[in-house]
Amino acid sequence: TPDEWIPRDSRMVRLTGKHPFNSEAKLRDLYSYGFITPSNLFFVRNHGAVPRIDDETAKNWKIEIHGLCQNSGSLSLDDLRTMFEVVTVPITLVCAGNRRKEQNVVQKSLGFSWGAAGLSTALFTGVWLSDVLGFFQPQKGAKHVIFEGGDSLPNGPYGTSQLLSWAKDRRRGMLLAWAMNGLPLEPDHGFPIRLVVPGQIGGRSVKWLKKIELSENESQHHLHFHDNKVLPMPIGPDQARAEKAWWYDPSYIIRDLNVNSAIASPDHDEILRAPDTEVYTLRGYAYAGGGRRISRVEISLDEGKTWSLAQIQYIEDQFRGVSHHDTVYGSLDLSDSDQSFCWSFWSFDAEVKALKEAPSITVRAMDESLALQPRDMYWNATGMMNNWWFRVCIHRLG
Ligand code: MTE
Repeated sequence: TPDEWIPRDSRMVRLTGKHPFNSEAKLRDLYSYGFITPSNLFFVRNHGAVPRIDDETAKNWKIEIHGLCQNSGSLSLDDLRTMFEVVTVPITLVCAGNRRKEQNVVQKSLGFSWGAAGLSTALFTGVWLSDVLGFFQPQKGAKHVIFEGGDSLPNGPYGTSQLLSWAKDRRRGMLLAWAMNGLPLEPDHGFPIRLVVPGQIGGRSVKWLKKIELSENESQHHLHFHDNKVLPMPIGPDQARAEKAWWYDPSYIIRDLNVNSAIASPDHDEILRAPDTEVYTLRGYAYAGGGRRISRVEISLDEGKTWSLAQIQYIEDQFRGVSHHDTVYGSLDLSDSDQSFCWSFWSFDAEVKALKEAPSITVRAMDESLALQPRDMYWNATGMMNNWWFRVCIHRLG
């Protein structure tokens, strides 16, 4: 296969055969490392072959910036490093297909089956996109910023766009990043440089970034305009395929992530051997979109009739009060704000006896805009943004 030159961790579960490489770790493994995912366990979503870029090419790699801006031109990695504030920010990326497997069990959608580990978190180092756009001075009439990657795909290059008003807003946290967890990006994650967009579907974080264009119009790239969508529920996969009109309605394009959560332990189908009198700590993750914080996580042991509050841990709190945290977030001091660019972790102590008697263990989360995960699945043809209550069933022993 074209990517054979890339060494990959054998713990990664391949989801689409040999090629392209799409993979997630086992949720339990992923979770066991804590808030920051080791780069070799970071989920991978590639639409085609990974561009093979050697160090020399990377050194000369330039991002071209053109369109409706006063200055157009190109910037190398060295230019970015020397011209703008360099920051390191913890950011969670989530594939829009996270948890699609549950949808595919109900009815096959157009996409492949992600479990609940289609997300990962890293410390990304780079420069604020807002600073770079400020330098190029968008002109009147520019409404969108279009990004294009260096991979070649059957339907043209990979590309997507942002509203200019969002891209200019530093509080949205968009970065042009060249490092991940302190090391240059891995080829699978966009070496030498990628866009990183917190709070939005992972598809917005263009890898192997080559071009930025300021435009009146939204990106017309295939995956942006015709794929990353949640179509209305009654549209089945065959109809979606046959009636192209569905793909031309921009109102179904997805941007911010929706509120979601999952249980990392126990695993679905796990055998609980602990004695009835012990306490078992249920654990998992929750996230929301658009920089919103998770405001509550609830657990039900009776299929949603009653709920108990779980404890939440925020990654941002780990940076609060760290003496040199200004080098972490730079001039955007997120550690002092309510914004969140990351997953949070939750835990809940339950009696083993109660767990063994429960028909299932269910979790749901709410974000600070009071958006709550729905009880029912919103099945949709592309199988994206699945966020109904997450459940596991365990086996009792003893
Ligand atoms: N950028 C390019 N150039 N090509 C791609 O195939 N996949 C996108 C996005 N950026 C993609 C891309 C999708 S759908 C996701 S979810 C994220 O990258 C995944 O990033 P990761 O592979 O680093 O986890």
